[in-house]
Amino acid sequence: MKDFNAKQSDPNDPNDSNDPNVQTGQTGQTNRNEATPGPHPGVAVWDRRFAATDEFIFGTEPNRFLLSQAHRFVPGMKVLAVADGEGRNGVWLSQQGLDVVSVDGSRTALAKASSLAAQRSVRLETVCADLVSWDWGIEMYDAIVGIFIQFAGPHLRPTLFQRAHRSLRPGGLFLLEGYTPRQLDYRTGGPSNIEHLYTEAQLRAELVDFQIDSLTCYDTVLNEGSGHCGMSALVDVVAHKP
Ligand SMILES: C[S@@+](CC[C@H](N)C(=O)[O-])C[C@H]1O[C@@H](n2cnc3c(N)ncnc32)[C@H](O)[C@@H]1O
Repeated sequence: MKDFNAKQSDPNDPNDSNDPNVQTGQTGQTNRNEATPGPHPGVAVWDRRFAATDEFIFGTEPNRFLLSQAHRFVPGMKVLAVADGEGRNGVWLSQQGLDVVSVDGSRTALAKASSLAAQRSVRLETVCADLVSWDWGIEMYDAIVGIFIQFAGPHLRPTLFQRAHRSLRPGGLFLLEGYTPRQLDYRTGGPSNIEHLYTEAQLRAELVDFQIDSLTCYDTVLNEGSGHCGMSALVDVVAHKP
């Protein structure tokens, strides 16, 4: 596992918070202006959450939206799985014959991802890094997958989308799934801070450099481990870098 978390955190988004555990009301809010070395403070909250159980919080099966897009992947494609957590999506992508980089800030989650990859006899390159300060690279990937990456609020989110755009090759695929504000009624997973949830208008504005092939808001029952369980308000985006 490559580990980039020893680098100085980039406190470029002091208003951004990370609420990884809406169920227990933890907020993970910390002063990101502190000039201390180490990852984005929200990452430590996630790491503790992943370390608290041997279970896979979001399950070991791939996200349903990702699965529905299987036809877009061709063996050999280089794919970045952003904030891939315990690797359910990165491992499934590897099983499709793709060359996957699974990046996440939590070392504990990535250890689980590596064990899942070993169990399924696939290769998964894991990178432990804070996506706020990590160098995503330029035109490196044929596809980037962001499934529930809503640790980013309104100040950080456009930056992450720009980095995704920059590190995709022209024609590259961008898949994104997240919760919409109606999720605050369901409270079956995701951030409790409305600013971290996606609206159609906000996504269309922030993804303006992408060609959006489809953007679909809908409610459905999720059954992804204990972390995402029950009726959920979702938005799925399929986009390409022109
Ligand atoms: C809701 S989980 C989603 C995990 C995975 N995408 C899935 O769907 O199973 C959010 C993930 O974001 C990661 N994360 C939060 N802040 C991060 C940051 N600044 N840099 C890298 N990863 C971060 C957490 O460690 C966690 O794995």
